[in-house]
Amino acid sequence: MFDNTYKNKTVILTGHTGFKGSWLTMWLLKLGANVIGISKDIPTRPSMFKILKIKKNIIHYSTDIRDFKKLQKIIFKHKPDFIFHLAAQSIVSKSYVDPEETVTTNVVGTMNILEALRFYKKNCAAIIITSDKCYENLELKRGYLEKDNLGGKDVYSGSKGAAELIIKSYFNSFFKKNHPVRLAIGRAGNVIGGGDFAKDRIIVDTVNSWNNRRPVDVRSPNSTRPWQHVLEPLSGYLILGAKLIKNNSLSGEPFNFGPDEKQDITVGQLLENLAEIWGWSVVRDALKIVKTKPLFNEAGLLKLNCDKAKEFLKWESNLSFNETLIFISDWYKTFFSKSQNMYDYTLFQISKYEEFGLERKRDWIK
Ligand SMILES: NC(=O)c1ccc[n+]([C@@H]2O[C@H](COP(=O)([O-])OP(=O)(O)OC[C@H]3O[C@@H](n4cnc5c(N)ncnc54)[C@H](O)[C@@H]3O)[C@@H](O)[C@H]2O)c1
Repeated sequence: MFDNTYKNKTVILTGHTGFKGSWLTMWLLKLGANVIGISKDIPTRPSMFKILKIKKNIIHYSTDIRDFKKLQKIIFKHKPDFIFHLAAQSIVSKSYVDPEETVTTNVVGTMNILEALRFYKKNCAAIIITSDKCYENLELKRGYLEKDNLGGKDVYSGSKGAAELIIKSYFNSFFKKNHPVRLAIGRAGNVIGGGDFAKDRIIVDTVNSWNNRRPVDVRSPNSTRPWQHVLEPLSGYLILGAKLIKNNSLSGEPFNFGPDEKQDITVGQLLENLAEIWGWSVVRDALKIVKTKPLFNEAGLLKLNCDKAKEFLKWESNLSFNETLIFISDWYKTFFSKSQNMYDYTLFQISKYEEFGLERKRDWIK
């Protein structure tokens, strides 16, 4: 798997207590890595991080990435072979309430990682995670390409666009020539999956309502989003790390990771299909369409063109949309039923994802 790149390697993961970070920690542990996690807090209650008791299997730091000295000390102490930087204020609605925290975490926090790595003397591949929202959203029908303009009308999107500019300028100024650290950027869109408990995310609200046999309030049934299972971009980040450590020509490059561009699935469709899989006999009983004004100005659909990841990393989505929904339904049902150890169950889902990869002859399975 991933050319055995991560076995016995030291990997620092920021944002390891969050949704994507918890899944990535689990996958890295399964791949045999020694994981060191840096996060400010555990962002939700409940959380996947606590449910799985991930802390027992890693070295865990409760540290704010805005504290440069502490951050640098951890990086220099553990001498990582890889860094995956996921820590962020990741909620768009929160960026309207606390723009300062969003900018300082997403922009200054990212700069702190780069600033620490500037003085790092060991070979290391650092994958910095931004977002599809870093692009200037021109409401284009086509998928955005890595070379398209950066932008962002809301503060969260702007902070991710700004982080990208900082990464690019740091790369050109310090990392481009004769530096042991290689950098690459992962840009992914909306991810869904078991274990997400963050505020204002549709799947979380839905499964919580359905677990109490109540219909879920649906505000924008006709909005389309580029849904993908959380393991999809994570497989991309892991391939990127594995290729980057071997191939210097990838250094400084951004990569999009998104679902098939042709996939146009509305919130309504997503929830209807999920309701069926969840076991609602009458699907319309599972949804309550409510007409309210959006809480904040949300941008229209933004699609990603992932040809570059396909060409250079041989990465593509592994699951069908239906399989994605089955993965999600199974994870939350298992959690609510308290019938299994969720650490083992999550590893089981990762193994299943890998089995699909083997069946479909994905390049990363080697
Ligand atoms: N979830 C999505 O749909 C999605 C889509 C595109 C991009 N992303 C990006 O992927 C990354 C992970 O997203 P997620 O959904 O797992 O986020 P999350 O909100 O679940 O977790 C965020 C993590 O960052 C940590 N963090 C926040 N502020 C910090 C600070 N100042 N110092 C140290 N740690 C801090 C939190 O403790 C937590 O571990 C983020 O960079 C996010 O912007 C997520």
